[in-house]
Amino acid sequence: MRIDVLTLFPQLFEAPFGYGVFKRAAENGLVDLRVHDIRDYTHDRHHTADDYPYGGGAGMVMKPEPIFEAAEEINKNAPETRVILMTPRGRLFSQPLAQELAGEERLTVICGHYEGVDERVSEHLVTDEISIGDYVLTGGEIPAMVIIDAVLRLLPGVLGSEESPLDDSHVNGLLEYPQYTRPAEFRGWEVPEVLLSGNHGKIARWRREQILRRTLESRPELLEKAELDCDDREVVTRLVSGKDKKEITDRES
Ligand code: ADE
Repeated sequence: MRIDVLTLFPQLFEAPFGYGVFKRAAENGLVDLRVHDIRDYTHDRHHTADDYPYGGGAGMVMKPEPIFEAAEEINKNAPETRVILMTPRGRLFSQPLAQELAGEERLTVICGHYEGVDERVSEHLVTDEISIGDYVLTGGEIPAMVIIDAVLRLLPGVLGSEESPLDDSHVNGLLEYPQYTRPAEFRGWEVPEVLLSGNHGKIARWRREQILRRTLESRPELLEKAELDCDDREVVTRLVSGKDKKEITDRES
């Protein structure tokens, strides 16, 4: 997959994607991340990428010309490429959207800055406006890194087989079960006995219950949308009605 990023701060992308999993993925030809400086597409002496807002008001607005020029040059042989603008007013990013984007051959990601980006960019260039959450960051670079990370790790071969993304929180609309490693006892805290039992059926049932318990505790609204079978529903009913309910409400209050 090829991802082109348009930003005023290209160096910011060096660290997150220059090490570990993503470095290996690039070396193996699975990922082609190209980061472009929007200022390289300006034509004045000062490389001006922003200007005052028409109508007045605080802050600066990113100019349309260099952004259009960059995106059109980059995608001249791939005009169907999805062009994403990172903005807090966009559609909320999610695991299903990461999966959808991972199916594309190419993406272009524009990092907004200052008080915003000239609206004509959204109207005539951008195909998707994406927000990573209901809060405002100083620029679109960190949000772009978030979505690029979430998308790239889904590509076949990017994660080793031991790091499979299939068990991740949110993949099935529920949260992950807890994990333990050695030692079996640490500072007197023991690993749940069932995990040492070697009984795979029992372990699977325990893990499923933990998934349901955690989701009920931290993100109960996810349970309403999730696909639960009869066993799951029984567990949830027990968790909600039993002693567990007291623990949950205690924690909430
Ligand atoms: N730029 C600033 N805040 C943002 C957010 N929450 N999501 C995407 N882009 C942003």
